Amino acid sequence: MLVTSKELLLDAQKNGYAVGAFNTNNLEITHAIVRAAEAKRAPILIQISAGAIKYAGLEFLPMIVCKAAEQASVPIAVHLDHGPSFDLVMKALRHGFTSIMRDASSLPYEGNVAEVRKVVEACHAIGVPVEAEIGRLGGVEEHVVVSEREALMSDPDECARFVADAGFDFLAVAIGNAHGFYKGVPKLDFDRLDAIRERVDVPLVLHGASGIPDYQITQAVEHGIAKINIDTEIRHAFATTVRKFQEENPDQIDPRKILQPVIAAMQAVVERKIEIFRSAGRA
Ligand code: G3H
Ligand code: ZN
Repeated sequence: MLVTSKELLLDAQKNGYAVGAFNTNNLEITHAIVRAAEAKRAPILIQISAGAIKYAGLEFLPMIVCKAAEQASVPIAVHLDHGPSFDLVMKALRHGFTSIMRDASSLPYEGNVAEVRKVVEACHAIGVPVEAEIGRLGGVEEHVVVSEREALMSDPDECARFVADAGFDFLAVAIGNAHGFYKGVPKLDFDRLDAIRERVDVPLVLHGASGIPDYQITQAVEHGIAKINIDTEIRHAFATTVRKFQEENPDQIDPRKILQPVIAAMQAVVERKIEIFRSAGRA
């Protein structure tokens, strides 16, 4: 069933698990995510980014994903991931999204607050919750020295101020996480996460979770993360399974036959994450 993310994340926060938020670009990824959620009886978010909308079409992809969520036997929220503008947020709402991220984290503090507040006002008027981010993920790389690395992370006091000033529902934090695969083993800053948790009462979100070792994901959940984003590992399963299938079946040209094992491989990735996030059986 199609729900908003607020009820999902508040339950996760209360009961010590995280809801998986999985990115989709097309029909096959959407099928894989929904099948995994149903198999594991888990509430989930399906995320659509601006890039996915550009690729698959604003009329088209949300229609597929919202229909899949409506028909699913578990609660699913359809979420705009890293919403880059007020304009796209409005379009997403019009196309049935039940959860919004407005990512203005690249702006100076006041600009971030102003952008998020504008979106909060519109979304809350129709009962749609909003995620916002403070701190920077993209530049957190192995070669960045510690002081620079810390400067990019979310500051606990600023997090508290940001929640109070902008009035949104979920906070995405930068605690050593980064998008894409990591160079080396990531090291999440759990002291910082604890300090944020102490000062902020809204559910916390971990972006860039692909490639973070399971034990650190478990710790992140124990330290209060309630939503965890996965994209890259699903893409990896897609690409490697297509390659393997084509090597083994060079004459196969039927997309349905080629993509069947690909869907299964992506479903397996999502099911595994759901287990690690402790959200299996919560639906
Ligand atoms: O917003 C999407 C996620 O943060 C994706 O993270 O690249 O580690 O899968 P990922
Ligand atoms: Zn992200």
